[in-house]
Amino acid sequence: MSQQPPNWASEARWKKIAIWVTAGSFVLLIFLTFDTLSKTSVGGERVRAYSVINQEIDYRFNAQKNRFMPVIGKEAPLFGKVVTETEAEQLVTLGKKTVQSKNCMNCHTLLGNGAYYAPDLTKAWLDPNWIDAANRENLMLAFLKDPVGNARANASGRKMPNLGITDEEAHGIVAFLKWMSAIDTNGFPNNFKTLNAKEQP
Ligand code: HEC
Repeated sequence: MSQQPPNWASEARWKKIAIWVTAGSFVLLIFLTFDTLSKTSVGGERVRAYSVINQEIDYRFNAQKNRFMPVIGKEAPLFGKVVTETEAEQLVTLGKKTVQSKNCMNCHTLLGNGAYYAPDLTKAWLDPNWIDAANRENLMLAFLKDPVGNARANASGRKMPNLGITDEEAHGIVAFLKWMSAIDTNGFPNNFKTLNAKEQP
C-alpha cells in the first residue's frame, strides 16, 4: 500500500505558498515603488524644486533626527538673477547633461555613485574650500572653466584636468551643484563640514 506524503511535503501546498509569496511580494514592490517615487521626485521635501537655486542653502545638524539636513534659507539668487521654475529646470538639466557627457563620475562621486579619485560632488556647493560664500558661484565658474589655472589647495595634491567646459555649460553645472546640495541625503556624505555652519555636533 502506497503511503500518502506528509502534509508539509505536499506539492499542492508548496505551490500555493509560492503563489501567495509571489503575489505578496509583487504588491509590496508596487507599494514601495510609489513610496520611493514620492520621496525622490523633484519638488518634494527631500528633492527640492529646481527653483531652490534662488535660495540660500545650508546644511545643519538636526539634533532630533541626529543627522545633518539641508536648510533652505532666504532669497539668494544664483548669479544675482531670480529664475523661474522652467528656467531653473533648463539650467540644472544643462548642468546634469554636461556632468554626464563629460563623465565627471570617472573621478568624482555624485550622491555616492562614481569613482573615488576626487571629492564627492553632492555637497560641493557647500564645501568650505570655496572660502568666500558670497563669491562662490564665480569661483566655481572660474574653476570649472580652468581647473588647472585655478587649482585649489587640497591635501591629496591631485589636480582636475581641463575638460573644455564652455561658459554656458559651467553656469549649468554650478546650478546643478547648488540644486543637488539641497537634496536631503540622510546625512550623506558623513562628517561633511559646510561653508557656513557654525555649530557642529
Ligand atoms: C580626471 C579626474 C577628474 C574629472 C574627470 C573631473 N574632475 Fe573635478 N576634480 C578632480 C580633482 C582631482 C579635484 C580636486 C582638485 C582641486 O580642487 O583643485 C576636483 C575638484 C572638483 C570640484 C571642487 C570640489 C569641491 O569639493 O569643492 C568640483 C566642483 C569639480 N571638480 C567638478 C567637476 C565636474 C563638474 C566635472 C565634470 C564636468 C569634473 N569635476 C570632472 C578631478 C576630476
